[in-house]
Amino acid sequence: MIIAIDGTVSSGKSTAAKNVARELGLLYINTGLMYRAVAAYCLNSGVDTADKEKVASLAKELTIDLVNKEDGQHVLANGEDLTAQCKGPAVAKAVSDVADNVEVRKRLVAEQRRLGLAAKPGAVMEGRDIGSVVFPDADIKFFITAPPEVRAHRRCLEFRENGKDVPEEEVLRSILERDKRDRERPMGALIQLPEAIPLDTGDLTREEVTQKIVEHVNAARS
Ligand code: DC
Repeated sequence: MIIAIDGTVSSGKSTAAKNVARELGLLYINTGLMYRAVAAYCLNSGVDTADKEKVASLAKELTIDLVNKEDGQHVLANGEDLTAQCKGPAVAKAVSDVADNVEVRKRLVAEQRRLGLAAKPGAVMEGRDIGSVVFPDADIKFFITAPPEVRAHRRCLEFRENGKDVPEEEVLRSILERDKRDRERPMGALIQLPEAIPLDTGDLTREEVTQKIVEHVNAARS
């Protein structure tokens, strides 16, 4: 079974996907982490992420593995664990270039299909183009979002928990820019498919989001 969860940045889709996978005994696959790993690898190799050809040829040589550990999903690029770096600001800044690169997308989409098909009894795959490109025949699809102001506020609280005080307007601006870039990407753009179940997490707790998704999946199975 493939559950496709697409949605906007900071909408709570990663947490939801992880929890749903745990509850249903499925493999959790965070595809954003794969794009981030390519960006991190480029930065470490001194490759400018805007250089489409260089990035494409580097991505061709790269083996990306996702490994589930106690503290969450880790990503390895040619065997090297780049997870911590993938969560940092340099990668956050560079990753959109990588996600816009059509050759990188072709490579990662093929890898994501392989991972999803190999997962028994199935996977919860999270990203932007899972229902539209990676698994158009997914058993069930969700589109998760929340109002930009709510997402910015949540992000700020997370930053504060990690000892960083970032102005909310700045976070909101960055979220709106990333939304635009996600929606306007030439391949794999974020779209709300008519068959995807929409979920606005604005007024919901994390547990409520998870429960709603699980209820929909159980109803679709029966
Ligand atoms: O979900 P995230 O913020 O970790 O994603 C990182 C970047 O990768 C972001 O620019 C969106 C992009 N992405 C994508 O284009 N397609 C996916 N399936 C997943 C992520």
